[in-house]
Amino acid sequence: MNDTFLRACRGEGVDYTPVWIMRQAGRYLPQYRRVRERVDFLTLCKTPELAAEVTLQPVEFLGVDAAILFSDILIPVEAMGMRLRFYDRKGPVLSRPVRTLDDVRRLRLAAPEEGVPFVLETIRILRRRLKRVPLIGFAGAPFTIATYMIEGGGSKSFLNTKALMYSSGETYHALMRKITDMTITYLTSQVKAGVHAVQIFDSWAGALAPDDYKAYSMPYVKETIKALKPLGVPVIYFVNNCGGLLEYARAAGADVIGIDWRVDIGSAVRRLGQRVSVQGNLDPCALFSSVGVLKAKVADTINKGRRARGHIFNLGHGILPETPPDAAKALVEMVHELSSR
Ligand code: CP3
Repeated sequence: MNDTFLRACRGEGVDYTPVWIMRQAGRYLPQYRRVRERVDFLTLCKTPELAAEVTLQPVEFLGVDAAILFSDILIPVEAMGMRLRFYDRKGPVLSRPVRTLDDVRRLRLAAPEEGVPFVLETIRILRRRLKRVPLIGFAGAPFTIATYMIEGGGSKSFLNTKALMYSSGETYHALMRKITDMTITYLTSQVKAGVHAVQIFDSWAGALAPDDYKAYSMPYVKETIKALKPLGVPVIYFVNNCGGLLEYARAAGADVIGIDWRVDIGSAVRRLGQRVSVQGNLDPCALFSSVGVLKAKVADTINKGRRARGHIFNLGHGILPETPPDAAKALVEMVHELSSR
């Protein structure tokens, strides 16, 4: 197995900058859409043979340096007893949002083997079929998961989440306690099933003021990472809209901090220091530019990333469904070519 990705996570020497793409399996790929014509998204996540197949699609087509398990951050939330549905335009919806201490008490903490057996089975299939590169497992960060549970879906202002945080601290922290316990158990089971690294997605951390992030999100991520440490796999912590939060995010103790494109990677590296690796951070829209413009942006990201302890090239957030597949493929080739030494 090519371990360049894992080496960069640990800050060991590499021959080139490894690259993978957030949401690399998804709607921008015609081969993914063909599978989705037959089954809905949740069925796809819950059918190990199919989930493994779409996990492998971008590995073969793009030539990336890591595979990421095909699933969703909300899959274990359904196993906690909430009703989850995905709508084409609206995204995920969780009916009967969590707002009271009673709602929190009703949430179940099932063993992953019982609650999400299909995820573990997908990992086992992938460990047999994926030979070339490592497999990344993942979970949502407790705060990001809490926003979906409290809002009942996506949100712009996160008003219900923040209102609960500020006015019913006991309920908020009881919920975070339960989500954190679930996340630790869930990620541990993924590692035991065979993933080589894990990524924690804090997609909505950037909605918080820095002091609130420090009080209401980071401690739970820190606890999660600490619980995973004995397992010995690298932990990547992706913090979307991280510009105001980097110093606090570093304190969560991850091996790699994933950054979005709104921050300059050179300044992020300076702020994070030499004890973590960095992942990111090309604007997903850069894949719609001309070759020359794209090349300049990629070269700049690689050169600035070189000053980090380790750099894993990625987009600053998920690849957009409108992206031409060949542009994604060209990006991966470009990263490999421009970074080879
Ligand atoms: O990266 C990968 O290729 C692995 C699979 C993966 C998916 N979701 C598949 C997916 C991963 C790692 C996720 C994580 C995820 N899910 C996050 C964190 C990353 C981020 O984007 O910030 C979040 C916030 C979610 C919740 C979620 N799932 C939303 C908001 C949506 C709807 C918006 C959208 O892009 O469609 C989803 C659906 C989803 N998850 C799709 C895929 C491929 C599209 C479903 C489809 O096929 O119609």
